Amino acid sequence: MPGALIPGALHEWPAWNEYTFEKSEKGPLLTQYKKDIVARYGEEALRKSWLKVCAELEKLTDEISEKGSSIIPEIAYDDFFKLSAEEQEKIKSVGCFVVRQAVSEDLATEWFNDAKTYVADNKASVTGWPTETPFVLNIYWSPSQQAARTHPRQLKLQRAINTWWHDEEGNTSPEPLSYADGIRIRPPGVPFYGLGPHIDAGSLSRWVDPGYIKVYDSIFSGHPEDFDAFDLTTRKKANQSLFEGFAHSSVFRSFQGWTALSKAAPKEGSLLLYPNVKTAIAYVLLRPFFSQPKDEKDIMDATKWTFDVETPWFPGTWREDSQFASPTSHPHLRLKECMLHIPPMQAGDTIWWHCDMLHAVEVEHIGDHEASVVYVGAVPTTEVNTAYIKGQLQKFVDGGQTPHDFDHKKLAPESTFKGYLGEKGILGGDEGRKAFGFDL
Ligand SMILES: [Fe+2]
Repeated sequence: MPGALIPGALHEWPAWNEYTFEKSEKGPLLTQYKKDIVARYGEEALRKSWLKVCAELEKLTDEISEKGSSIIPEIAYDDFFKLSAEEQEKIKSVGCFVVRQAVSEDLATEWFNDAKTYVADNKASVTGWPTETPFVLNIYWSPSQQAARTHPRQLKLQRAINTWWHDEEGNTSPEPLSYADGIRIRPPGVPFYGLGPHIDAGSLSRWVDPGYIKVYDSIFSGHPEDFDAFDLTTRKKANQSLFEGFAHSSVFRSFQGWTALSKAAPKEGSLLLYPNVKTAIAYVLLRPFFSQPKDEKDIMDATKWTFDVETPWFPGTWREDSQFASPTSHPHLRLKECMLHIPPMQAGDTIWWHCDMLHAVEVEHIGDHEASVVYVGAVPTTEVNTAYIKGQLQKFVDGGQTPHDFDHKKLAPESTFKGYLGEKGILGGDEGRKAFGFDL
């Protein structure tokens, strides 16, 4: 029973995929990508980092499994703007947090009811995932989503979150842009295995895109302790969607997030997080360069792993999909103990997690009501983000068309939907319109 005694850990590990070489993406290019990195940074540096990161994980996973979900900070909305520098640093080191009542429970509930009406009124045109029992819905412009993204309290929060990143070149700003994403309305009783532990914001592109790999320079150079997970100077130049894919967001989100439109306790179709960014992402990035020892009992001993650039395997990586991890492919993460349920959420609460953080959607929903969230991330103003938002705005004003990142779904424009409000659905006055890209 993994994690049985850890508060907030899964009591039973779900039947999520395990990632093995046999079932992986193949191709000689994968070996070449590895060799290019070794040529640039050197075997010694990679070995040094591997040992440091695995040693750090040993301490970290002990700490996470001891503290459980209490490690995930919970902050009241107004308090978020009063955090001391020290408190902020502490939260940044965890990499995720709950902000309570970004909007009131009543307002979020109203949005939930409106969203359900929008879906019911346009039933014939609304699709979603999984296909048999769709609950991650392919709608992007419902009045509820527009409101959740541009409510003045949301924009204020997104702006504050964006300031947690720093840009030494100064050509970015924390002014929030509004990324149009989907909505989840999940009925109870149906297990969902589609989103086991994964990291968004690209996958193979982290190793291959010249701008993206630069973000992790210290990790590949033998100094993972120097990795600054909040450096926008390099991150703003990363191409997350270097490889075409159905899962990559083209914009950089300083934090991914969602706003709850209904309550959801653990096991009620909510979220699991791995509450660390710096060491966990370093491990995921270094893992393809090492092969595990033959003897099972040596697996947790990092010194017994072999340096390997010949095997064309990036564990848990498919270029078109998100980056996945599993207990067997990424043993030092001790996922069974360290993937933690987020605390119980009420309508109007928000959860935020760093763009490099491992997260998963709960398999179970044993509650008695639909669990609903609107995906609302924090998107700062950068060149890459501005370019995307301009395109997204064009699609919006051209009749509520599907934003580029979801274009492959071939959906009907939402301006044909009953209840579609178009520009009238934007809240927050000039600020909301600015977030939509009208000033760009
Ligand atoms: Fe995700």
